[in-house]
Amino acid sequence: MAKETAGIVLPRHIGFIMDGNGRWAAKRGLPRSLGHKAGAEALRKVVDACRRRGISYVTLYAFSTENWKRPDDEIQALMKLFKEYLDEARGFMGKNTRIIFLGDKSPFPEELRSKMISLEKDSAHHTAMTVMLAMNYGGRDDIVYAAKRIAQLYADKDITAEDINEKTFGGLLYTGSAPDADLIVRSSGEQRLSNFLLWQSAYAEFYFTDTLWPDFDEKELEKALTVYSGRSRRYGGV
Ligand code: IPE
Ligand code: IPE
Ligand code: MG
Repeated sequence: MAKETAGIVLPRHIGFIMDGNGRWAAKRGLPRSLGHKAGAEALRKVVDACRRRGISYVTLYAFSTENWKRPDDEIQALMKLFKEYLDEARGFMGKNTRIIFLGDKSPFPEELRSKMISLEKDSAHHTAMTVMLAMNYGGRDDIVYAAKRIAQLYADKDITAEDINEKTFGGLLYTGSAPDADLIVRSSGEQRLSNFLLWQSAYAEFYFTDTLWPDFDEKELEKALTVYSGRSRRYGGV
């Protein structure tokens, strides 16, 4: 499972909780929306750095199911940014990168939703790397969604109760057949999951840094990867 380059064990799947955009902007006397813009720039560079290192799966927490609680103007600014970002995504993600969105797309504006669907469709056959953008994502919603799908399969008599196990259940999550997260990185000093990849991070390693997301760069990634490489993962064994 683990990949090794130059003596460092790389995670196969790395998840980023991209936190601290608002504080980054506040420190500079800027509106929060400019913090999000700077955060999108950091995301671009981090995805590129992961791709160059040969990391196969990268998941980025862009908008949680709880983030709808934010003021209207911030939500509007984020939707605008998502649209711009997705327009450019094809260009900067790498030619052979598959893009998947985690979360229920239905609350997003129609224009954004159709961009999400076409990006997924157009990149479905790409094999070099998978980038999963968690948008309107919540780990609990993910599990409830899988449970609903299981209930439907059962009601349609497509499965029996015996068919339900961790593998079949896990395969019905938004992340589908992607491997579990090996490493979760959270910026901005907070040490919590905030409803990110609850099921998929059961055995993940965690790396927290005080760096605010817009300042998170390749050097920071390198630090996280070095720490990860030094961890001893036992999965309950000895
Ligand atoms: C993370 O940055 C981005 C989103 C949640 C969309 P924040 O906006 O949470 O930034 P802080 O935590 O307020 O600094
Ligand atoms: C988590 O950040 C969600 C994203 C990074 C998209 P939040 O800023 O929403 O999390 P809390 O409120 O500090 O837990
Ligand atoms: Mg935050």
